[in-house]
Amino acid sequence: MQTRIAVLGAAGRMGRATIAALAGQDDCRLVAAIVRRVDDGRLALDAAAGIFGTRAGVVAEQLPDAVEADVLIDFSGAGGFDEALRTCRERGIALVSGSTGLSEGQLAAARAASAAIPVLWSSNFSLGVALLRRLVATAAAALGPEFEAEIMEIHHRDKVDAPSGTALSLGRDIAQARGQDFDAVARFARQGSAGPRPAGEIGFAVARAADVVGEHTVLFAAAGERLELTHRATHRDLFARGAVQAARWLAGRSPGWYALADVLEPVAPTPP
Ligand SMILES: NC(=O)c1ccc[n+]([C@@H]2O[C@H](COP(=O)([O-])OP(=O)(O)OC[C@H]3O[C@@H](n4cnc5c(N)ncnc54)[C@H](OP(=O)(O)O)[C@@H]3O)[C@@H](O)[C@H]2O)c1
Repeated sequence: MQTRIAVLGAAGRMGRATIAALAGQDDCRLVAAIVRRVDDGRLALDAAAGIFGTRAGVVAEQLPDAVEADVLIDFSGAGGFDEALRTCRERGIALVSGSTGLSEGQLAAARAASAAIPVLWSSNFSLGVALLRRLVATAAAALGPEFEAEIMEIHHRDKVDAPSGTALSLGRDIAQARGQDFDAVARFARQGSAGPRPAGEIGFAVARAADVVGEHTVLFAAAGERLELTHRATHRDLFARGAVQAARWLAGRSPGWYALADVLEPVAPTPP
């Protein structure tokens, strides 16, 4: 049976990449491309390529009542996320979301919704990054806070949020592995008389330039040695393919809060 997928933020870069990724899948079907404005000029390119014309049930500003979907893939960003969550709750649809820059309140709402619907939110749909997070947590637990942790990321000039959602996730992974309170040890900027580095701090450095898809390095440093774990994304299609893989995996599952790592290695959902 085909998994019926709606895409929110379909006119955006990731939305269009997701629709392109769906085009090659026999076991998935795009039932709706949800956009902010149906007359969005960016859709013309995709229509010309036949993507919307041949694959989408509808192009609409909201998921029509008549359209049934198993999973909504959301790449609308923080501004569209609430609508994605509301649509999924009201319609009983599983949510796969890659929107970043979400507030604590938005994440809390998503966790609460996961009592009623399956939710898989990930700030990075790269399977390589899912593995990086596992490696970083292992390294942080093994090395302890004596190894000073710094997270460096670079993305394209149009990225809205900083640090990246992935960098924040990596920082939280380190804090959790060391038994630290992330908010108490995260250091987002150093300027002027920043002073000596406090023990246990987790530092972030952000760069924005040109068309860089996304790179993350986690540095663990102690006197006389450094360990660096790096992931480089060279094409955004990989995130779209990961989101489609996640949607296929999530369809029909029990309500719960899932992570991309669960797609690699199925486990019971973590409590909301
Ligand atoms: N998790 C991952 O692996 C991953 C990878 C890459 C990017 N991202 C994240 O995915 C999000 C989108 O990135 P992008 O580069 O594709 O951005 P983008 O090109 O700006 O696309 C976002 C699209 O969503 C639309 N939108 C916003 N609110 C909407 C709403 N309420 N209803 C319908 N459409 C709405 C926007 O329309 P307007 O232009 O009219 O506002 C735009 O077309 C960002 O949060 C980004 O950080 C995640």
